[in-house]
Amino acid sequence: MKNYKKIIEDIYNDVKQVDDIGKVANYIPELANVNENNFGVHITTINGEEFSIGDADKKFSIQSVSKILTLTLAYKLIGEKIWNRVDVEPSGNPFNSLLQLEADLGKPRNPFINAGAIVVCDVLISELKNPKEDFLSFCRNITNNQSLNYSDKVAQSEKNTGFRNIALCNFIKSFGNIKNDVNRVLDFYFYTCSLEMSCKELSEIFLYLADDNYKNDKEETILSTSEAKRINAIMLTCGFYDESGEFAFRVGLPGKSGVGGGIIAIHPDEFCITVWSPKLNPKGNSYKGMLFLEKFTSNTENSIF
Ligand code: DON
Repeated sequence: MKNYKKIIEDIYNDVKQVDDIGKVANYIPELANVNENNFGVHITTINGEEFSIGDADKKFSIQSVSKILTLTLAYKLIGEKIWNRVDVEPSGNPFNSLLQLEADLGKPRNPFINAGAIVVCDVLISELKNPKEDFLSFCRNITNNQSLNYSDKVAQSEKNTGFRNIALCNFIKSFGNIKNDVNRVLDFYFYTCSLEMSCKELSEIFLYLADDNYKNDKEETILSTSEAKRINAIMLTCGFYDESGEFAFRVGLPGKSGVGGGIIAIHPDEFCITVWSPKLNPKGNSYKGMLFLEKFTSNTENSIF
């Protein structure tokens, strides 16, 4: 795999020494129960080459990284109609903001802020017989990874403290853009965020966004080339909330973060790379994760630009 191995090792050792000015998320109390020194990286290329370093095999709470998976399934199920419910513009606002919804009449700016992902969950509830089970089996079947699961503890912890999400869901419902019962929608949303995966599992599951010819072991395509292009485009412009411009500027790859400290980034036609380090910068993105990826695309001189 080119010279990625040596470059990743060097950057990993370098970033490991850096003083981490981030803070572990604790607004979902269960997320604070993590060893903040965890630091893992995994890369998977479209040719199936893989390389891991550090805590790349430990499962963690993927949180908002799951928003790519819920969007993928909703897009598969209802096609372009999804964009009538959620827009594709960067919000330039924090992930849990209520600010723009009033002026935008309940249509979230994009599917990667909480408001947008909640609407996507509402679409899935309307489309799926058993939303939690069906979504989980969709995720498991992408890479035939039957070990994927939700964390009841994390989901319940967020349910008890997710006041902003509860407000968002009710507010959107008041505009008619939530069709199902708000408690059902929120319960499903909290469960999707509680999915647990390792860096290795994340790099493997998102290969369908890097590889135009990706098929699972049942020879099924996950998305068409044009659908994958669109999801990558939204990741580039909206994957890091009010830090999306900064991520594109510093890293130059489509990506998505979660408050568990995971970041996935895609190089179309080349690879998916995942970094996990739980301490977050003030915008809710992994401090060392961003630093690692910035050094990675700078040293390899390999971004999409
Ligand atoms: O809804 C929330 O606040 C969390 N379940 C997910 C937020 C998140 O991961 C934002 N990402 N950086």
